[in-house]
Amino acid sequence: MADRTARTARQAAGPGGGGRAARAADPEHAHLIRYGGAFAQFVVERAAGSWLETEDGRRILDFTSGQMCATLGHGHPAIAEAIQRASGQVVHLFSGFLARDVIELARELMAMLPGPLTRAMFLSTGGEANEAALRLAKLHTGGHEVLAFAGSWHGMTAGAASSTYSAGRRGYGPALPGTMALPTPNPYRCPIAHCRDRCDLTCLEAGIALTDAQSVGAPAAAIIEPILSAGGIVPLPDGYLARLKRHCEQRGMLLIIDEAQTALGRAGAMFAFEQHDVVPDLLTLSKTLGGGLPLSATITTDEIESDAVAKGFLHFTSHVSDPLPAAVGRAVLSTVIAEDLALRATSIGARLRAGLAELHDRHEGIGDVRGAGLMLGLDLVRDRDTREPDERYGTAVTGRCLELGLSLNIVKFAGLGSVLRIAPPLTVSPGEIDLGLQILDQALTDCRR
Ligand SMILES: Cc1ncc(COP(=O)(O)O)c(C=O)c1O
Repeated sequence: MADRTARTARQAAGPGGGGRAARAADPEHAHLIRYGGAFAQFVVERAAGSWLETEDGRRILDFTSGQMCATLGHGHPAIAEAIQRASGQVVHLFSGFLARDVIELARELMAMLPGPLTRAMFLSTGGEANEAALRLAKLHTGGHEVLAFAGSWHGMTAGAASSTYSAGRRGYGPALPGTMALPTPNPYRCPIAHCRDRCDLTCLEAGIALTDAQSVGAPAAAIIEPILSAGGIVPLPDGYLARLKRHCEQRGMLLIIDEAQTALGRAGAMFAFEQHDVVPDLLTLSKTLGGGLPLSATITTDEIESDAVAKGFLHFTSHVSDPLPAAVGRAVLSTVIAEDLALRATSIGARLRAGLAELHDRHEGIGDVRGAGLMLGLDLVRDRDTREPDERYGTAVTGRCLELGLSLNIVKFAGLGSVLRIAPPLTVSPGEIDLGLQILDQALTDCRR
C-alpha cells in the first residue's frame, strides 16, 4: 500500500515528478520515451465533461482540464461536430493554400481583440506560437535580447525554451544569446525579499536595471504570462504590466503576452491582458484555442507584420494554417461566447475560491490561496510564518487526491514544488466543484503530518 501511494503520488506530481524512480519503468511502457517523469499507472479509456474513465472502470474528476487545454470539458459536441465537418471537407493542405475556416477564424478572433491587433497566423503548439512571435520581434526590431520571468514556461522549442526559466534548462547546451530573466513578481514570496503580500513593483525596477546592465544594445522583446502557471499560479500585480510596457517602449522592445492558459475565459475575461489595460505588440494563444486539439495563434499589428514581411519573414511549417484545427478553433470561440464561459469562470470560480478559503481556515498547511477565475492555486507551507514550501505535503496530497478520484497538478517547475494548480473545465458543474473540494479536504487531512 505504501508503495502504491508513493507511486501514485509521483504520477500526480506530473512532469519532473518522477525523479530517480522514473527509471523503474512499467513493462507496459517499455516502448515509450519518458518525457516528463513517470506515466500514470492507469490507461484512460474515455473522457466526457469533467470526467475521465479508466480501462479498469475508475472515474476521475479532471481538475487539470487535460493539459490545461480542455476548457470546454472533454467531448464537447461543438468540437466533435467541427472535427466531423472538417474531416469530411479538408483536413490538411499545402502550407500556402488556405481553407475558409482559417480566414474566418482570423476574422472572428480579430473581432474580439482591440484595434491594433489585426493579423494572425495559426500553428499547432504554444511553443511554436511563441517561437513565431520571437522571430517576428527580432526581425522587426533588429535586436535579439529577450526578457522573461524567472518562473516562466513558454515551450520546448529552442527559442521558447531559452526563455523558459522554470524548468528544463540544464543539460541541453547553451540557451540563445541575449535571453535574460526578470524576477517573478510573487507577493507571497517576494523574489527580492522586499515586500510581503503587496508588490510595489520594486522587483520590476531591480530586474530592469540588471537586464539593462547586461544588454549589448540589441533589445527585441519581453515575453510574459499574465498569470504565471508553472511558476506557481502568480497573477501579475496591479500596475505591473503597464509599467513593463513603458519600459519596453523606452527601450524599443516589443511586449509579447503569452495567453496559452489564460485566454478564452479561464481567468474570468476573454483575454487576461484586458484586466490590465495594456495591449501587447504580439499576443500568443494556444492550449485553450484548440480546446484539446493542437492549435495555436501568433497575433500582431499591421505595422509589425508589414515590416517583417518586407524583411522576408519566413515561418513555413507543415501544419501552419491547417484547416481542421481551424474549424475546431471556430467552434471553441463560438462556444465560449454562446455559453458565456468567461462569466461562468468568474461565478463558478468564486464558488471554488470560497471553498478553498474555507479549507485555508481549517488546514494550517495551506499558506496562500491565489489566482483568478478558474485558475487557482494553493501554496502549501510547513509554517505559515516562515512560508517554507512543503513539497512533501504537496506530493502526498496530489497522490491521495488521485487515489480518491480527483486529478490535480502540483506545480513543481519553479523548484518550489508546493503549489497545487486547480483548473477544472469552465463547464464544470457546481456539484462537481463541491465534490472536488470534498476530496481535497479529505486528502489534506489524510496526509497531515
Ligand atoms: C504559458 C505557456 N506558454 C507556452 C506553453 C507551451 O505550450 P506547448 O506545450 O503547447 O508548446 C505552455 C505549456 O505549458 C504554457 O503554459
